[in-house]
Amino acid sequence: MTTLSIIAAIAEDNAIGKDRQLLWHLPNDMKRFKQLTTGHAIIMGRKTFESLPNGALPNRKNIVLTTLPEAGFVNCFPCESMKDALELCENEEEVFIIGGALVYRQALAKADKMYITRVGATFPDADTFFPVVDWSQWEEVEHQLFPADEKHAYPYSFHTYVRKR
Ligand SMILES: NC(=O)c1ccc[n+]([C@@H]2O[C@H](COP(=O)([O-])OP(=O)(O)OC[C@H]3O[C@@H](n4cnc5c(N)ncnc54)[C@H](OP(=O)(O)O)[C@@H]3O)[C@@H](O)[C@H]2O)c1
Repeated sequence: MTTLSIIAAIAEDNAIGKDRQLLWHLPNDMKRFKQLTTGHAIIMGRKTFESLPNGALPNRKNIVLTTLPEAGFVNCFPCESMKDALELCENEEEVFIIGGALVYRQALAKADKMYITRVGATFPDADTFFPVVDWSQWEEVEHQLFPADEKHAYPYSFHTYVRKR
């Protein structure tokens, strides 16, 4: 069985992005993202793919959802539907939904697990938000809290949730 996992960094007001970029630079969150996703398949929307500074993420099967699969996504598997994307992952142990908002929304009802970084700030200028979650369906199995420091402008915490069965 494949575990379908959402991974996202979310502010207190549910903000996740602005002008097609992230709203923060949190190196430890990037490290955690890399540790968790390396060696696995990742599914993302076309806009999130275009926000990656160096294109496809190395050592991962990059699957990009788009209605224009012929547009040329180097080192990626373009897919025209979530169903096609998930079919490409049938033999994977764990698959990560890495955003953005449109893709999180489609994956939320299907996901088994969520790795959420909570960013301790609000972003009134944000233009992209994580979808509303019914947290009563999720059990937190792990969390770690970190204060702001010279490399991290905001306090942040890592949370792992599994769907209650
Ligand atoms: N904080 C975080 O953890 C995090 C993570 C990821 C992204 N982000 C941020 O989120 C923002 C981008 O999110 P977004 O919601 O605007 O865009 P997105 O979800 O990254 O991409 C949306 C695009 O994906 C394609 N798509 C989505 N679902 C599809 C489906 N079922 N079938 C075919 N194509 C599909 C469409 O591409 P076409 O138009 O090509 O058809 C759609 O326009 C950026 O600001 C980014 O930095 C934040």
